[in-house]
Amino acid sequence: MLSQENIQKLPTSYIIEQLCITPNIVLAPMAGVTDSIFRRMILRMGGCGLVSTEMTNAASVSPKALRRHGLLTFYPEERPLTMQLSGNDPDLVAHAAQMVEQLGADIIDLNCGCPSPKVTGGGHGASLLRDLPRMERMLRAVRAAVQVPITLKFRAGWDEQQLNYLETAKLAEDCGVAALALHPRTREQRYTGQADWSRVAAVKAAVSIPVIGSGDVQDAHDALVRLRASGADGVMIGRAAMANPWIFLQIAQLRAGQAPIQPTPADKLDFLLRYMAMCEEEMAPRLALNKTKQLIGQFVVALPGASHLRVAVHQAPSLSQARDAITDYFSVFADPVVSSR
Ligand SMILES: Cc1cc2nc3c(=O)[nH]c(=O)nc-3n(C[C@H](O)[C@H](O)[C@H](O)COP(=O)(O)O)c2cc1C
Repeated sequence: MLSQENIQKLPTSYIIEQLCITPNIVLAPMAGVTDSIFRRMILRMGGCGLVSTEMTNAASVSPKALRRHGLLTFYPEERPLTMQLSGNDPDLVAHAAQMVEQLGADIIDLNCGCPSPKVTGGGHGASLLRDLPRMERMLRAVRAAVQVPITLKFRAGWDEQQLNYLETAKLAEDCGVAALALHPRTREQRYTGQADWSRVAAVKAAVSIPVIGSGDVQDAHDALVRLRASGADGVMIGRAAMANPWIFLQIAQLRAGQAPIQPTPADKLDFLLRYMAMCEEEMAPRLALNKTKQLIGQFVVALPGASHLRVAVHQAPSLSQARDAITDYFSVFADPVVSSR
């Protein structure tokens, strides 16, 4: 357990060029999850210092493509906002970065960590870890093309035999990258094994730009333990925020010496219903249903009988039937006779 005295000694912000990111606990970009609705819901709860769009292919930022996929749609309340691009053609990515800057990105993040074969197969994401000269050309081209800070999100290397996170970090700093986020697994690991945060500590010791650690944060206390142990400037939270969107608020409460909120089943139901209502208002019905299905998988992880609910939502043919399944499930908790058994 971290003592309150040690919690108070932890950094609470970091600077990306002119931008002060505070608090230094940020939402990880997650494709299919961290759309504008999820980002706004997280930000409204408090405690999250920075959010990012989902990864967007640099070849898909034309006005027509943006209208089709909507990945870079945002509301002013989300600022400062990072927009994340993937690609591997330096000129194309630099051009996309200019367009993204015009859209209003406060920070442009380049993805060199995505392990998905669909992404690496095209030479994007983590595959750039195997081609640092190309990564360097891309970083320099983007740096020269835009005024806003650029950041890099990357993995520890392609596999255990090709661990090059220190080399990558130093290269990025040399190219004018303003901050780094390291998910310290290899591409080969995907999401297996454990994120080795000693690699985050090693990167922090090797560069003078801010370093953010990403991977396996379980809960509010764990985030602060990792911040302290790694010496990182910030912590990025992904999957735990899907299961527990209150985690950012809980960290802020821990820092303020308060007992972290323990969301009740009623709070969880309220979160889900608000999320679904926003999806219904802002998206096509099928997409709204798919988004709900994606969130529910992680959101209910720690709840009793969650697998039944997950199945019911996944089988629901419409959003209103998914809502009924969710309301039915949570109604059990609202019944004092049943919940006191
Ligand atoms: C569903 C999902 C989608 C993700 N999409 C992205 C993405 O678009 N861009 C990116 O840089 N990382 C992406 N990641 C990786 C996360 O940002 C994060 O680095 C990783 O999940 C480890 O952190 P966690 O253990 O807190 O989830 C994704 C992860 C998940 C689980």
